[in-house]
Amino acid sequence: MSTPLIVDTDPGVDDAFALALAAASPEVDLIGVTTVFGNVPLARTTDNALRLLSLFGRDDVPVAAGADRPLVHPLQWPAHAHGSDGLSGQADTLPPPGRDVDGRDAVTLLVDLLTAAPAPVTIVAVGPLTNVALLLAAHPRLRSRIARLVVMGGGIAGGNATPSAEFNIASDPEAARRVLVEEDLPTVLVPLDLTMRCAVDTTWLGELAASGPVGRTLVGLTPTYRAYYQRSLGFDGLVMHDAVAVAEAVRPGVLTPARYPLDVDCTFGPGRGAVVPDRRPRSVSEEFGVDQDRAVDFAVDTDLDGLRSFVLERLKTL
Ligand code: BDR
Ligand code: CA
Repeated sequence: MSTPLIVDTDPGVDDAFALALAAASPEVDLIGVTTVFGNVPLARTTDNALRLLSLFGRDDVPVAAGADRPLVHPLQWPAHAHGSDGLSGQADTLPPPGRDVDGRDAVTLLVDLLTAAPAPVTIVAVGPLTNVALLLAAHPRLRSRIARLVVMGGGIAGGNATPSAEFNIASDPEAARRVLVEEDLPTVLVPLDLTMRCAVDTTWLGELAASGPVGRTLVGLTPTYRAYYQRSLGFDGLVMHDAVAVAEAVRPGVLTPARYPLDVDCTFGPGRGAVVPDRRPRSVSEEFGVDQDRAVDFAVDTDLDGLRSFVLERLKTL
């Protein structure tokens, strides 16, 4: 039986690739998509999610809109990497959505899907963690219905929204702390350190574009985002942050984990939004009272070429 999967997302160019991978993977049953503010405001992330699922032939997947802002403090680092519409200015060239957004809010849809699913559900969260924090805070009994949480977020060596904080965590540090530190779910955190290494080049993109109309359309959503990331990558390529997290949900273990207790910086200094893994030897951190059982699997490595081929082959089937 395929694993029930929900994607919580803020499309976003790399979110588009993540949704495509989820839609194209038979190992998972994409049972719902929830949207959150992030790369662009909520109305736009929701419309983008609906249009993308139509493009992938998945109008059967309910899409519910969630949080339109962070839990506690206003957004401090608005994104601009994805263009003003989140899809490199190309969102309105996608076919209009084949249906309306679900009448339920994101948390209600999550509750309904978790309750009804035939098996515990994997949730992949690839935007700010606001919806997931609200779900866990309001419905603690549903924790047992979540098999795994796979989160794209954080950076071990530093951030992208600020020198210390990665965008998804920086967008709502309080929500991230609730989910990653205060909760105790089996969690894989897919940080920037790995996702940057998984970037694909123009040869990969050319092969995807040549595979058919969906591949061509996906590649057409990338120019603004690629131009933004060219400065960090040093070449014209696509950083598939969120698709790397979906790959782990589709093929558990494809990313190599290193298990660390962590904290999320919720102060108002230069570290706000930073994910801080405790990488000291266990015996040392235990001396300081750190609970080793409350740890998260940081994805630190993978077979980079294998991952790139896997994603490409899957997207070519759309
Ligand atoms: C994350 O931030 C967003 O801009 C991307 O969609 C990804 O989820 C990378 O830091
Ligand atoms: Ca995202």
